[in-house]
Amino acid sequence: MQIQTVVTQPFLDQKPGTSGLRKKVRVFQQAHYLANFVQSIFDSLDIPPNATLTVGGDGRYFNKEAIQTIIQMAAANGFAKVLVGQHGILSTPAASHIIRTYHTFGGIILSASHNPAGPDDDFGIKYNTDNGGPAPEKITDAIFALSKHISQYKIAALPAIDLSVIGTTQLEGFTVEVIDAVRDYADLMQSMFDFPAIQRWLADGHRMQFDAMHAVTGPYAKEIFVNRLGAPAASLMNCEVSENFGGGHPDPNLTYAEDLVKIAYGEHAPDFAAASDGDGDRNMILGNHFFVTPSDSLALIAAHAKLIPAYAQGLAGVARSMPTSGAVDRVAKALGIECYETPTGWKFFGNLMDAGRVTLCGEESFGTGSSHVREKDGLWAVLCWLNVLAASQQSVESLVRAHWQTYGRNVYSRHDYEGVPTALANAVIAHVKAQFATLPSQVFGAYTVAQVDDFSYTDPVDGSVSANQGIRILFACGSRIVIRLSGTGTEGATIRIYLEAFTEDLAQQQRDAQDALADLILVSHHITQLPQLTGRQQPTVIT
Ligand code: G1P
Ligand code: ZN
Repeated sequence: MQIQTVVTQPFLDQKPGTSGLRKKVRVFQQAHYLANFVQSIFDSLDIPPNATLTVGGDGRYFNKEAIQTIIQMAAANGFAKVLVGQHGILSTPAASHIIRTYHTFGGIILSASHNPAGPDDDFGIKYNTDNGGPAPEKITDAIFALSKHISQYKIAALPAIDLSVIGTTQLEGFTVEVIDAVRDYADLMQSMFDFPAIQRWLADGHRMQFDAMHAVTGPYAKEIFVNRLGAPAASLMNCEVSENFGGGHPDPNLTYAEDLVKIAYGEHAPDFAAASDGDGDRNMILGNHFFVTPSDSLALIAAHAKLIPAYAQGLAGVARSMPTSGAVDRVAKALGIECYETPTGWKFFGNLMDAGRVTLCGEESFGTGSSHVREKDGLWAVLCWLNVLAASQQSVESLVRAHWQTYGRNVYSRHDYEGVPTALANAVIAHVKAQFATLPSQVFGAYTVAQVDDFSYTDPVDGSVSANQGIRILFACGSRIVIRLSGTGTEGATIRIYLEAFTEDLAQQQRDAQDALADLILVSHHITQLPQLTGRQQPTVIT
C-alpha cells in the first residue's frame, strides 16, 4: 500500500465543542482541514494492532467525500479494517451500537446533528471511544492540542470504495466492510421492547405518525415501524434521506417540526406522534393535541420502565444534565434509586453507565437514552413510549397528567437567543457573574434567591472535574434559572436560558408553561439584562 505523508499547517480553530467539531461545510472543504483533524484524532490514540474503526454519518452534504478521506487515512495510520454503514450512513445511536457489538476501536461519526445541511450549512465530526460513547474531555482536549501543532498527516493512495454495495473489499492487508446497520439496530430494538404488544395496539386502530425530517432515521423507521410493527406506510413522513435534509432544520421541536405539529394538533390527530433529528439521536414526543417536554418524557419513562421488557428488572439509577428539569429526580426518589446531575452533553453519562450506576438518562434538549448504547437514541425513545402506551392502554395526555398528579409538575421551558454577537453574549454572562456575591437573599416578587453558582461537576467514577458548566440561580421555592452559552453553534453565540418552577397545585399544573413561567421570565431578564445588552426582545426558539 502506498502511503503518502502530506506536509500541512495547523488550523487554530479545531476545538471540539459539546459534541465534536462543527463548522460550516466550506470550512471543512479547505485543503487539509478535515485531514488535519482526523490525523489529530489518530495521533491522540494508541491504535492497537489489527484494530477496526467504525465510520458513518447522517448522510448530509460532504458525508461521502469525508468518508473516503477517513478510510484512506485509517489505512495509512495502522487500522486493519474499517466498518462503514451502507451509503456511508449510520445514525448516531446505530454507530454506537456497531462500535459496541463488533468491539471496534471506536468510531468516527460525521454529523452536525440537527443543524441544517448543504454546501452553505454545517458539517461535523467526532470520535467515539470503544464503549460506543463520545470521547471524554481528556481525549477531546488532547485532539485540540495536537491540532494546534500538526505538521503532517498520513494518507494511503486507495481507490474510492463503492459504499452502496454491502460487502467486503480487501486492499493489500486492509479491509473495508460495508454493513447493513439498519438490520443490526432494528434487531437490538426488537430484543428490548414488547413488539407483539405494540403490534396489537396498532392493529386495534391506534394511530401513530413519525417524522424523520428528511434525515437519517428514515430507513430505520421503515424497517421498525412498518416492516416489523405493521404500521401503515402513511404513518411515516419525510423518510427519504436527502443531503440537505429537504432544505429544513432537522431539529425535532415545536418550531422546526411544524409539519408534524400541525398533524398532532389538527383534526383526526393521531394518538401518538414523534420526530427525530438529523443524526437520529434526538426525539420529540406528542400526543393528540399534547406536547411532552423532554424532561417530563424522561421522568415518565423512568416511572413506567417496568412495563418495558428490557427494564423489567428495574433501573440501576438515572441521570440528567444540569439544565434538565428535576422531574426525574422525584421519580428516582420514589423508586429509591440514585439520580445524578451532570453537565450538558452526552459524554458525561458514559462513565456512569460503564460503571453500572445508571440505566436511563436524558437532557432537556430532546435527548433521552439508556445503557443499551452510549448515545442518546431517538427511535429508542419513540419505542419506549409506544411500549408504555400499549402496555398501559392510556393516552399520552392522561399518562402525563397522572404523572403530574403523583409527582407534581416541574413546569419548564428553554428560551434560546441564536446568532448573538459573541461579545454581547459574553457581556450577558459577565453581567450575571458580577452579581454572584450580591444576588443571594435578594427578593424578586415571589422569588427569593437562595444560591448562585457556576456549575461544576466531579465525575464520581474517575474523579475528573468539569468547571464552568453553566450559571445556576436557585430560588428558595425550588424554582431555577440556568444560563449558559451553546457549545454546538457555528455562527456567533447562542444564549440559552432555562426556566423551571415546581408546583403540586392541580390548577397550576393545567396552565400553559409560558404563562406559568411569565414572572420567572421577567426575573431572568432583570438579572441578566439580556434585552438591554443584546437588543433582543424575544427568543429565537422556545422549547
Ligand atoms: C446542545 C444541547 C445539549 C446536547 C447537544 C448535542 O448543546 O443543549 O443538551 O447534548 O446539543 O446534541 P449546546 O448547544 O447547548 O452546547
Ligand atoms: Zn443529534
